[in-house]
Amino acid sequence: MSNKSILVTGGSSGLGHAAARKLANSGFYVFATVREIHGIFDKMQNIEELKIDVTNDQSVKEAFHQIESRQEDYPLWGLVNNAGICIPSPLELLEPAEFRRQLDTNVVGQLLVTQAALPLIRSNKGRIINVTSGLGSIAVPYLGAYSIAQFAKMAFTDALRRELKHSGVSVSVVQPGAIYTPIWEKILAAGQDILNQSVSEKRKIYAKSFLEFLKVSEEGARLTMTTENDFAEVVLNALNADIPATHYYVGNDAKDFIDKSHTLTAAEIDSLFDAHSPTSREFEDYLA
Ligand SMILES: NC(=O)c1ccc[n+]([C@@H]2O[C@H](COP(=O)([O-])OP(=O)(O)OC[C@H]3O[C@@H](n4cnc5c(N)ncnc54)[C@H](OP(=O)(O)O)[C@@H]3O)[C@@H](O)[C@H]2O)c1
Repeated sequence: MSNKSILVTGGSSGLGHAAARKLANSGFYVFATVREIHGIFDKMQNIEELKIDVTNDQSVKEAFHQIESRQEDYPLWGLVNNAGICIPSPLELLEPAEFRRQLDTNVVGQLLVTQAALPLIRSNKGRIINVTSGLGSIAVPYLGAYSIAQFAKMAFTDALRRELKHSGVSVSVVQPGAIYTPIWEKILAAGQDILNQSVSEKRKIYAKSFLEFLKVSEEGARLTMTTENDFAEVVLNALNADIPATHYYVGNDAKDFIDKSHTLTAAEIDSLFDAHSPTSREFEDYLA
């Protein structure tokens, strides 16, 4: 098939942006989704912005009307479910509405886009790639909501792959480790907001270790050697492979998490995060 097209969600920023550019430069036609049209790809060939808010059914429907109208020229062959947000919070302080927003964007949004894309991708015997994280293998304190979403996306991928086994469509997951994209500044800002806005006395229990955790994590991401381009390469390989793997990782930290999830006991994994929990003194002070 010539002129295969790939839909990449979350194309405005970070990993999705890098992947969209890489795929377009490699000869695919790319529909890169954005929430606001900015003309960011106007000077590039083989790529166009497509407006989608993955939490909005109507927005997904309208975007697929556009994609369907282009099928003769650019048959949809691939979907990269990449759009996502990360809401950091101690679970005890997490607002239910924020938890819903996390799941709505990263999990339900992925379902909506996949359902809309499947009829086209199936008729073209194409590929689906879901982007999760190392946190889809090990849940991390203070990123509980996000970890839950990533575990859900792992399960979504496995279930979908098994359902589509005889359809000719392949379903893979890509698990990146930390890569310094705009998501990290958003996480820091969101964490600060959550603490500032919390009227709960319980914020005192968590404030110190939560802020320390955010700082350490952001610094770790800032220093990582893994790049957006490494991610884009893995996505390209998954699309070009004769037989795509079911699981890909990007970065040694992701591999380390995946390996540990298979080899360590739950207690051993707990101990990796000993430094990222309030002290017994902080819990006792709250009771006093
Ligand atoms: N960077 C990392 O360290 C890392 C590690 C593991 C996994 N990941 C995963 O990789 C994916 C991309 O992350 P990133 O680091 O590239 O983050 P990013 O730079 O913040 O980009 C996130 C993208 O998702 C889009 N998005 C957010 N909410 C959306 C919605 N409701 N509808 C449609 N698009 C929406 C954003 O669009 P707007 O510009 O409109 O907000 C943006 O294009 C995420 O799923 C994340 O969980 C990232």
